[in-house]
Amino acid sequence: MSDTYQAAVETSKKIEADLQVNPKKYRVLTGDRPTGRLHIGHYFGSLQNRVRLSKMGVPTSILIADYQVLTDHDAFSEISQNTKQLVIDYLAAGIEPNDDVIIYPHSYVPEANQLMIPFLTLVSNAELNRNPTVKEEIQAAGLKSVNAGMYTYPVHQAVDILYCKGNVVPVGKDQLPHLELTRLIARRFNEKFSPDNPVFPEPQALLSKTPHIMGLDGTQKMSKSRGNAIMLCATEDETAKLIKKAKTDGERFITYDPENRPEVANLLMLISLCTDETPEAIAAKIGDGGGGMLKNMLTESLNEKLRPLREERKRLEAAPDYIRQVLLNGAEKAREMAVETLKEVRHVMNMEI
Ligand code: TRP
Repeated sequence: MSDTYQAAVETSKKIEADLQVNPKKYRVLTGDRPTGRLHIGHYFGSLQNRVRLSKMGVPTSILIADYQVLTDHDAFSEISQNTKQLVIDYLAAGIEPNDDVIIYPHSYVPEANQLMIPFLTLVSNAELNRNPTVKEEIQAAGLKSVNAGMYTYPVHQAVDILYCKGNVVPVGKDQLPHLELTRLIARRFNEKFSPDNPVFPEPQALLSKTPHIMGLDGTQKMSKSRGNAIMLCATEDETAKLIKKAKTDGERFITYDPENRPEVANLLMLISLCTDETPEAIAAKIGDGGGGMLKNMLTESLNEKLRPLREERKRLEAAPDYIRQVLLNGAEKAREMAVETLKEVRHVMNMEI
């Protein structure tokens, strides 16, 4: 795993450099499950990077994985609202949909989903069973029985990436096993059905540079369900209240020491992400000011950073027809790509009539 990881880090650096020079050589494919609104961990961890890549002119597909929600959630009554809330978060953060930058739910691209059937024949049960991310998700969800969709969603993720010939996937470490599987499926498909003229690229990971953002408890990953998150849609007062309750430690003098003072370090890191100063410099400024000053500073810099986004968010919430149109336009463009790919796939698989 760590060799694979090191290799991914190296490749990722090369791609990052080439993206600046040849943005149109690539298609970035990213996605989220519509399980709720986004929080500042998503914003600093992935959303800002998507905005940056799309503004560099890299064709970008942002996919809302609505089918995937069914793998570990019983509830589906909120999928549609959550999908629209995600779109609002994306747009408010600065994603500008156009011919090359699209947002859509993967359930709206039937021709892509059709690739699932041949793809499933290219992997073994054993390969699906040993996916470490899937294993962790099964544990975390505490499922009594695991549905087959849970084991096969990484194959569906390969569909998401390959139908539009996505060749760059911005990921955190947990998504690397899925990307490996996508590469395996692409390779096996090409070898089996079109050895002389590969249909699918083997997509590469673009690893995130942002350090891990912890929740306000400073010990676990930020997540809405753990109650340690600040949502992008929170008001300035809600933000202040949450930060007031954030965990720090008994030592008054503020220093940046991620090893021994993870909670304080996390808050300093968040300020640093808002102000672009180093966490060390911020700690030095606060010093004797203690936890109170640290929290005030975070509240102020975060509210200031998010103010334009939150204002835009309100405008977008009042424009549901526009949000729906963004999704329909995205789905239409996605389908055009999927129809083309499915034609090619039928041809090389000898299934034309
Ligand atoms: N599995 C991803 C997640 O849970 C979501 C996702 C679905 C995705 N399809 C994708 C991410 C394709 C990148 C590319 O967050």
